[in-house]
Amino acid sequence: MSEKVHVFDTTLRDGEQAAGVCFSEREKVEIATRLDALRVDVIEAGFPAASRAEWGNVAAVAREVRQAAVCALARAVPGDVDAAGAALRKAVRPRIHVFINASDVQLAQQLRKDRDEVLGMAEFAVARARRHTDDVEFSPMDATRADPQFLAEIVRVALAAGARIINLPDTVGYATPDACARMFSDVRSAVPELDAALLSFHGQDDLGMATANALAAITAGARQVEVAVNGIGERAGNTAFEEVVMALRVHGAALGLHTDVDPVGIAPLSRLVEECSGIAVPPNKAVVGGNAFRHASGIHQDGVLKFRQTYEVIDPKSIGHARGTEIVLGKLSGRAGFVARVRALGIDIPVDGLDRAFGRFQALAEQQPIVDDTDLRTIFAAL
Ligand code: KIV
Repeated sequence: MSEKVHVFDTTLRDGEQAAGVCFSEREKVEIATRLDALRVDVIEAGFPAASRAEWGNVAAVAREVRQAAVCALARAVPGDVDAAGAALRKAVRPRIHVFINASDVQLAQQLRKDRDEVLGMAEFAVARARRHTDDVEFSPMDATRADPQFLAEIVRVALAAGARIINLPDTVGYATPDACARMFSDVRSAVPELDAALLSFHGQDDLGMATANALAAITAGARQVEVAVNGIGERAGNTAFEEVVMALRVHGAALGLHTDVDPVGIAPLSRLVEECSGIAVPPNKAVVGGNAFRHASGIHQDGVLKFRQTYEVIDPKSIGHARGTEIVLGKLSGRAGFVARVRALGIDIPVDGLDRAFGRFQALAEQQPIVDDTDLRTIFAAL
């Protein structure tokens, strides 16, 4: 029996916290509608208390999305919780996400409150959120740097106040996969009431471990993962939507886990978020980078031409990648790749011409990084 991992997309909230990103209402609605069509479970639309415009954006997403839960973020203060509740009034499935700092460093240096005050605020805010909706998520922020005993205590308080989802965030991208797994196991042992709740993980990518941490959290019992398309988000970004969804497709059978996300819209959604956010996807980005399915070296080209899976773990068509597997010719390419590209252009290779043509190609490839179709045509025209 495969268990479901809920996908909570925060592109429109934490994703928008990436420096320089500002989605318009139209863009938020467009991205949310696409996420909904891909069967994401929860769409975090924004932080309504931040401004009137942001309140309006969240309300617009709440009006349009039909299937997924629409979530709004709120600090553990009454004004934020009520703003979130009001912005979500038209949502089919509204969720309020209440958070408060939980690590000693953040309590002492930022919030300037002691642990008892924080417990009281968490309890009050969760209970107030429950007046707006039954679907309340609670995040003890900076959980991975919090004292484990205090973490267990605040989780207990939030559950007793009515939280149904407990999200343990690695707010500053500090944790390693082992530490994440341990945190989830420890908190589950310390708080047996968690068995009746949905456990969630939210990871930042400051040390490049967000996806590994998310998978570790999942193997230790998390059944919701918070992600953003293209991994955008505060500082170095969030756990990437496409990486977690595809990792669970590739390894889901072995892990006994799945998501409901339809992967075929991943590549077009990545491009939409790239356009709306203005954050270019690096060519070597996992799953959605421009080079993710391009093969330039001879050995790899020979392999994929014989059998795609020799050097690819994802079928590019399965994520709606328009170009599919590509052979790119350069100085490390071999004859198999060269012949395949030439044939794809409909050029007949003369029986005695292959060695000469390949020699000319190699000479050209020493001078330029990519030998393209025009170069190939020129080589054969001059043979
Ligand atoms: O990074 C973080 O901890 C957050 C929480 C609000 C989940 O964004």
